Amino acid sequence: MFLKNCWYVAGWRDEIDDGRLLARTVLGEPLLLYRTEAGAPVALQDRCCHRGAPLSLGRREGDCVRCLYHGLKFEPGGACVEIPGQANVPPKARVRSWPVVERARWLWVWMGDPARADPAGIPDTHWLDDPQWRSLPGTMHYDVPHLAIADNLLDFSHLPYVHPTTLGGSEQYAQERPLVERLARGVRVTRWVMNIPPPPFVTQVAGWTGPVDRWNIYDFTVPGLLVMDSGSAPAGQGAREGNRAGALQFHSCQALTPEAASSTHYFFTQPHDFALDQPAVTQAVHDIVKQAFAEDEHMISAQQRNLALDPDFEMLPLAMDSALMHYRRVYAALLADEQAKAQARPAGTP
Ligand code: FES
Ligand SMILES: [Fe+2]
Repeated sequence: MFLKNCWYVAGWRDEIDDGRLLARTVLGEPLLLYRTEAGAPVALQDRCCHRGAPLSLGRREGDCVRCLYHGLKFEPGGACVEIPGQANVPPKARVRSWPVVERARWLWVWMGDPARADPAGIPDTHWLDDPQWRSLPGTMHYDVPHLAIADNLLDFSHLPYVHPTTLGGSEQYAQERPLVERLARGVRVTRWVMNIPPPPFVTQVAGWTGPVDRWNIYDFTVPGLLVMDSGSAPAGQGAREGNRAGALQFHSCQALTPEAASSTHYFFTQPHDFALDQPAVTQAVHDIVKQAFAEDEHMISAQQRNLALDPDFEMLPLAMDSALMHYRRVYAALLADEQAKAQARPAGTP
């Protein structure tokens, strides 16, 4: 069960450039993403209404797509406009379509009631294409449920243990309790750790070896978006009070999009605002983050395999779990509300 009435990141803008037909399953629905000739993104059900073949194996014809099994042709709204050898196109000959919007390098798709799809509700991730920031696109696929990855992203006390040579470093980081604030649609986590050795990636990309004050401040909101102000500054210069002169700053944006009940797409970037003219630094930042996220994937996947062995296993709630517990409560409450409203609606309405 997933929240439907919200915007999900379905992929990267350039994944549908050059006339490409992109197949991507989101919330258990096979989607075909492509562009019209004018460049507008389109999201159609990737299952032909005739006999279920993927339209992504078809071909674009102008703004339309033709299924290359038996030749039905569909316009961007999902209606079939041509059936070979048959003049009459029945009204039922159509596939679903979903609202899709391109914003700051991401393709956002609305999987719920189209009448409620307001692009003004798309979260701000402008750091992805702001000229004052640099980043590279990252994509991973997880064979675990999205909430298990959210759990990981909502508790950074794992950094020194899972990422000792990348994002982590000093175990003092895990000793500091973050401030956890409840948001209507998620959680805000604020963690400052003062006067610690620089995390390994900071030494690697900037050569810093002296002590730093380090911060991670992020909102994690439904349906699975992390937007984070993070960085390191020379210890004691007053970064916490607002003096970020000479600091290394990042503005990470990460999106979890369920593929199905037990698998998840993970789209991420790590924009930085220093060394803007040095692509090698951008590449190094990206490579380290990718390496770190592979470390997360290794641990989370192993955890899930372990949990699957004992459905009765009960987790032990601890202080470090407060953000993830709150997020799970928010998610469950919004999902229950959405489903109650859907059931109250007359049959046949979306
Ligand atoms: S399955 Fe698409 S035309 Fe037959
Ligand atoms: Fe991690």
